[in-house]
Amino acid sequence: EKDGYSSFMLKEINEQPSAVEQTLMGRLDQHGNLMLDELRIDESILRAVDKIVVVACGTAAYAGQVAKYAIEHWCRIPTEVELAHEFRYRDPIVNEKTLVVAFSQSGETMDTLMAVRHAREQGAKVVSICNTNGSTIPRESDAVIYTHAGPEIAVASTKAFLSQIAAAYLLGLYLAQLRGTKFADEVRDVLRELQEVPAKIQSVLDAADEVKDLARRMSTAESVLFLGRHVGYPVALEGALKLKEIAYIHAEGFAAGELKHGPIALVEEGQPVFVIVPSPRGRDSLHAKVVSNIQEVRARGAITIVIAEEGDDAVVPYANEVIRVPQTPVLLAPLLTTVPLQLFACELADSKGYDVDQPRNLAKSVTVE
Ligand code: F6R
Repeated sequence: EKDGYSSFMLKEINEQPSAVEQTLMGRLDQHGNLMLDELRIDESILRAVDKIVVVACGTAAYAGQVAKYAIEHWCRIPTEVELAHEFRYRDPIVNEKTLVVAFSQSGETMDTLMAVRHAREQGAKVVSICNTNGSTIPRESDAVIYTHAGPEIAVASTKAFLSQIAAAYLLGLYLAQLRGTKFADEVRDVLRELQEVPAKIQSVLDAADEVKDLARRMSTAESVLFLGRHVGYPVALEGALKLKEIAYIHAEGFAAGELKHGPIALVEEGQPVFVIVPSPRGRDSLHAKVVSNIQEVRARGAITIVIAEEGDDAVVPYANEVIRVPQTPVLLAPLLTTVPLQLFACELADSKGYDVDQPRNLAKSVTVE
């Protein structure tokens, strides 16, 4: 049932092109408008939403952090992302104009469920983004957008993460369309770009041997750092989480802009640092900023492993290793840049002889508090 793969995790990493494709499938009507029929919440309520709060745990919360950048950009609705277990125990400002979006692969995470209940008690509408049909969180939500990633068996989440991002993007684009923001015209362009993503993920997977080779060479690392900006920041956090979870290596993700505010003190000779580089075709000076961050850590002896777009030559002088991903719009990049980080963690754990699918101390769904 592992289809010849050495682990479910590796199989699920390789299923990501179809997981994303299935999640996006059949969304356009004959006029090229995005349909989201399952969003059974009155349109007048959706138009009146003045705040979105994403609640989730772990990897699902990182998917929410990625989605925040896209939703705020497309919809101009302030969007917060909060760990469900933190949300529950403060006194969050949630009311009838708040749309709460609960991300959960399993649909059974107790803290996320409790956050959903809490939000609905305050009058908020709740949409869940879930991979498990008929599970508790969707049953207790006002609407659900299912990710169609197929069952995820490995404890460490991979294909669910990418599918959650894809589903959340559909939600964001739909709200932009409904509310007629200045972005509404571009919805079709983004959807077209999204359709290209599965084939691009496949091309990242086709180059997996290079990443695997790197993982084997780095299997004695005691600590690994991950840096990113903008949507690359939650990708860095996710890369670090994967490595902790299955390879039991101390790993930390940072917003690259924070380096000087503390984390750069950790960098000494030989410290491996992954850097997720945004597209040089993006707006602002984001790319240049990240390139100078690579330079800064390299100057202090770091071994830099850079994930950059094809054709981005500016990173080469400062990179010990370059992992290439196909060109894509900035907001869609996490669907590609995450993949080498998953492969890296999976191969490194495997090379240490660990059980990749069943890491110690962890359960697939956390149904207790
Ligand atoms: C990490 C991982 C966990 C889950 C978290 C939420 O690889 O799997 O961090 O993402 O426990 O689980 P769900 O999405 O089922 O609510």
